[in-house]
Amino acid sequence: MTTKKYLLLSLIGMMLVPGCFKQERPVSDGKMNAFVDELMARMTLQEKIGQLNLPGSGDIVTGQASNTDIGKKIKEGKVGGLLNIKSVEKIRDVQKVAVEESRLGIPLIFGMDVIHGYETTFPIPLGLAASFDMYLIEQSAHIAAVEASADGICWTYSPMVDIARDPRWGRIAEGAGEDTYLSSRVAEALVKGYQGDDLSKNNTIMACVKHFALYGAAEAGRDYNTTDMSRIRMYNEYFQPYQAAVKAGAGSVMTSFNEVDGIPASGNKWLMTDVLRNQWGFDGFVVTDYTAINEMTNHGVGDLQTVSALAIKAGVDMDMVGEGFLTTLEQSLKEGKVNKADIDQACRRILEAKYKLGLFENPYLYCDLNRTKTDIGTAEHHRIARETAAQTFVLLKNENQLLPLQTKGKIALIGPLADDQYNMAGMWSVAVDHDKSVSVLKGFKDAVGDKAEIIYAKGSNIVDDPDLDMWVSTWGKPTIDQKRTPEQLRKEAVEAASKCDVIVAVMGEAAEMSGESSCRTDISLPGSQKELLEALLKTGKPLVLVLFTGRPLTLAWEKENIPAILNVWFGGTESGNAIADVVFGKVNPSGKLPATFPQNVGQIPLYYNHKNTGRPLGEGDWYQKYRSNYIDVTNEPLYPFGYGLSYTNFAYGNLLLNVTQLTGNQTLTASISLTNSGKYDGAEVVQLYIRDLVGSVTRPVKELKGFQKIFLKAGETKTVTFTITPEDLKFYNYDLVYDWEPGEFVIMVGGNSRDVKAGKINWAK
Ligand code: BGC
Repeated sequence: MTTKKYLLLSLIGMMLVPGCFKQERPVSDGKMNAFVDELMARMTLQEKIGQLNLPGSGDIVTGQASNTDIGKKIKEGKVGGLLNIKSVEKIRDVQKVAVEESRLGIPLIFGMDVIHGYETTFPIPLGLAASFDMYLIEQSAHIAAVEASADGICWTYSPMVDIARDPRWGRIAEGAGEDTYLSSRVAEALVKGYQGDDLSKNNTIMACVKHFALYGAAEAGRDYNTTDMSRIRMYNEYFQPYQAAVKAGAGSVMTSFNEVDGIPASGNKWLMTDVLRNQWGFDGFVVTDYTAINEMTNHGVGDLQTVSALAIKAGVDMDMVGEGFLTTLEQSLKEGKVNKADIDQACRRILEAKYKLGLFENPYLYCDLNRTKTDIGTAEHHRIARETAAQTFVLLKNENQLLPLQTKGKIALIGPLADDQYNMAGMWSVAVDHDKSVSVLKGFKDAVGDKAEIIYAKGSNIVDDPDLDMWVSTWGKPTIDQKRTPEQLRKEAVEAASKCDVIVAVMGEAAEMSGESSCRTDISLPGSQKELLEALLKTGKPLVLVLFTGRPLTLAWEKENIPAILNVWFGGTESGNAIADVVFGKVNPSGKLPATFPQNVGQIPLYYNHKNTGRPLGEGDWYQKYRSNYIDVTNEPLYPFGYGLSYTNFAYGNLLLNVTQLTGNQTLTASISLTNSGKYDGAEVVQLYIRDLVGSVTRPVKELKGFQKIFLKAGETKTVTFTITPEDLKFYNYDLVYDWEPGEFVIMVGGNSRDVKAGKINWAK
């Protein structure tokens, strides 16, 4: 059917079905307000409360949505939207029930955790951040939106922008890591990618910034745990990425599970109203996290009726899954615990979101069955996913230029993740088609063709403990080898490796060892993988470790003993191809770490932008009595934030500052010459850090303030210039006023947060 014909038919349909609407385009506040006013005037209290309800998708079966429990609720006007249903057919069916069988025919909003791609899966967010390439990140979100919207989804629970400095926390994988500035840029790119410039287009979807707020600071890296921090730290370090996403136009915000200042986030009025709406001007809607309202009872702030009232009063508009609003708000209204205006306001915000998405104009806007065939999993999307994945890999070590490998001879491909499709996508891959994921074995075989021989052996399990295996395969299948013991697996691998010229060990975490509810206290290589590495080293063959991980791992032994380490996170659908591209030198790695790799767990939290303390340890020192340090490990990370090697070398010249005495709104330019002094063409992420030496409150030892990814041909030199204004010097002072203070600043430029060229300036007001 042509689009025109379809629109005509649906228009006629709308006129015939009582309660259907004609929404005008484009979205203008005046028209939207008039539309929502008119609609709300016709809604009963129960229908308004129904809009605030976001149940799980429950028992939906294609073709029978109307007869299911959820279908019944939809007909009664008790549902505002649904989450995590996959398939346009199902969504269309359910939408039909809402539009044709509920009294007012208000369309539903369909949300999903489209976190790093849809069917075509991109690298996990921590990996995407490692690319330091905002264009690629935005493009990945755009493709996710194109695919998700072709399958009925118009709302994603992304970006997750929680700053995370504790790699024990599994959800570090879902964000952009430890840094405020980088996370803020990534947040903007993702929002732009999902939402485009017009939310009512059928290939854009609404973003949902989460988890507001401070979820990444869960104590001891244990999921859902308590957080507690000063306001000054919230504003300077943790809030900015959420704010950046709001500024970029994110249509919705999700609350977090943790408490903030002793009040669970979902009931925290200061957070949701004072900060989010009054200070930042957010005008979209707030949804809770999954059953977060109900969980406030466990937090210890009241029964379901009390906490539901607390949530709506705090500024929550939509209740995910728990049905606290649905089951208690009417009673609370009768008892004067909430008022009509609270409910009206929340309902209005949900209806506005639906209006902005164009759902009132066409409830089936995202249900075009033709697009499912043309827009999902296309060759072009796969090509971009492959290119993107290769940009996220971080080369941690490359002794004697072992990498890239040549496509010749016999290559042993060993390890529990070498012939694996399931784990390639990484955590949160609700919509991925695992059968389309490319294993490393397949990627290697395709890359070498008949020029080299790939000899594969599994070598070890990912983990050897059956309970752990079960816990990290909730969405997949347990992986422990039932036929061979770890010793037998290892023996086979050593035999295979002994016949080869070089060994590539493909190891690391299972996808589900990071992400939600996947925290670890031991973040070393799991199971008996280290034993396998030891055995492989004994063969005396050159050894490359390709490392899958959703978090920084403790790799002190590996750093010491393995000649080459390529950290590949979880690269998504095209992992195997992208890894082959990098290992065989088609692509030169350029990823940089978005989170510090500690030497051991005892150093955590360890992050580059820490405070100096009153007793800092001298640079390069290990231990001094009565200084801030440990007696059993240095203060240094194993690999610092921003670190990552290349197959080529980059030589930094001296830092040139155009002036060193500045006043007021002057502009400083910091430039440095960068030379590709090696043999390969390649890209380098040049990073700008600033230290404010004296402040009215203490300031970090350095803060990232800019970066540029520069491509240079072998032998080429370029001057890289950063422009710095007082805007880059601002911070929240003790009164939470955002301003800069005059004084001395150290300007630093380099290829990671540790190795920088520095110069000092004085900036007067
Ligand atoms: C997670 C959210 C997610 C939601 C819906 C929750 O458990 O914390 O990040 O968006 O579920 O699936």
